[in-house]
Amino acid sequence: MKITIVGAGYVGLVTGACLAAIGHDVVVVDRDGPKIAALRRGVMPIYEAGLDRLVAETAAAGRLSFETSLAPAVATSQAVFICVGTPPRPADGHADLASVYAVAAEIAQALAGFTLVVTKSTVPVGTGDEVEAIIREVAPDARVAVVSNPEFLREGVAIADFMRPDRIVVGGEDDGALGLMAALYAPITDAGSPLVTTNRRTAELIKYAANCFLALKITYINEIANLCEEVGADVEDVSRGIGLDSRIGAKFLKAGPGFGGSCFPKDMLALMKTAQDHGVPLRSVETAVAVNDARKGEMVRKIIRAAGGSVQGKSIAVLGLTFKPDTDDMRSAASLIILPRLIKAGASIRAYDPAGMAHAAPLLPGVVMAASALEAAEGADLAVLVTEWAEFSTLDLGALGRVLKNPLLVDLRNLFDPLAAERSGLRYVSVGRGDSPEAMPLTGHQPFAAMQQKLLAVS
Ligand code: UDX
Repeated sequence: MKITIVGAGYVGLVTGACLAAIGHDVVVVDRDGPKIAALRRGVMPIYEAGLDRLVAETAAAGRLSFETSLAPAVATSQAVFICVGTPPRPADGHADLASVYAVAAEIAQALAGFTLVVTKSTVPVGTGDEVEAIIREVAPDARVAVVSNPEFLREGVAIADFMRPDRIVVGGEDDGALGLMAALYAPITDAGSPLVTTNRRTAELIKYAANCFLALKITYINEIANLCEEVGADVEDVSRGIGLDSRIGAKFLKAGPGFGGSCFPKDMLALMKTAQDHGVPLRSVETAVAVNDARKGEMVRKIIRAAGGSVQGKSIAVLGLTFKPDTDDMRSAASLIILPRLIKAGASIRAYDPAGMAHAAPLLPGVVMAASALEAAEGADLAVLVTEWAEFSTLDLGALGRVLKNPLLVDLRNLFDPLAAERSGLRYVSVGRGDSPEAMPLTGHQPFAAMQQKLLAVS
């Protein structure tokens, strides 16, 4: 099939390269000239594992190309995917659909022959109806079907998520269009991924309902982690113990500094607003947003407590800045809230991140960037791990303890085994594992004893 992708951002590029890889002829269009010129030279505007190679291979095979003008590509395509950004409007949190609607009007002017218009950007329920109305207004005679096909790509593993998805969701009002979408994805569904077909509004809602549910799971385990610290339980074992229940599932039960990234915070806000506008507020989602926001402050207080009650005049080594590992993405990263608050509390910070420092530097004024974890830690009063990059998990903790002025590591991602960390000479504070500074001063890992003491104190 001949396909146009509008928008050479994260979703557009991954979708374009993957559709080309499964045999389609794909043109990725973006009005950003320098970006298109760079892509033609094989230079990616984003960091995603394997994307540069896939783009190079599919381009060399003649199935992927990059253009700045939309009309010629659309006129010769059977399907046009809208993959432009939908950031939250600062004023009210609603998804900003200006780019989606502008692109819809531009596509309408260029349509020739029957064309599928596919919204892949995450858009509020009813956006497909509006896109169709715009197209019909601009081009009343156009033969077109508008379908929703939300993406569920995780950064860092987006290509695998596209090629072997848990499911593909397609929503439309026209059986012929749904049939064409099924044919378009046949190489993936033939390999075993289920296709969920439904109406357009339902498909649009599935995307938000999925992301918000995942964010609820994370928020829940983070609150359970707080409780674990108070009662001397271990949140890692709680996650395993509940995650093995197939009704719950093991994933997205990792306690940490709260979720971030370009999707969860934005999608929760958008779904919350849609629900409020329809008079059916989603209280669980509203609460999760508030709990997740408060989480950053809790992490700052945890660090300050671990440092003995104050970070005034102290130097802190921060390991990891991006919102999660294997990306250079800093959007809604926990570090963007936690680090400035530590600086405000009087700390100086030296940080290291394997891929995010170029993006992070302008967003974190006052933070000095280091060339390695050990360089960041050299002479610091304590180290704080914010993002669980794989290279940190193999860090020599003994060496870390030796270069730190005080051998204290606050691990906001539970990357290390507390006993191993302590054996290597570190004082180790993590999340929800009964090793909070109150529970365990400097004497070893004794959550049960700490709990007993607390119970005795209140009885
Ligand atoms: C997410 C969705 O997973 C994806 O389906 C959607 O299309 C886009 O949004 P992404 O933003 O790339 O993908 O990141 P994800 O891996 O889902 O993590 C989101 C955030 O949750 C990160 O900040 C991560 O650190 C945090 N997280 C995730 C946890 O704190 N604990 C977990 O158990 C899982």
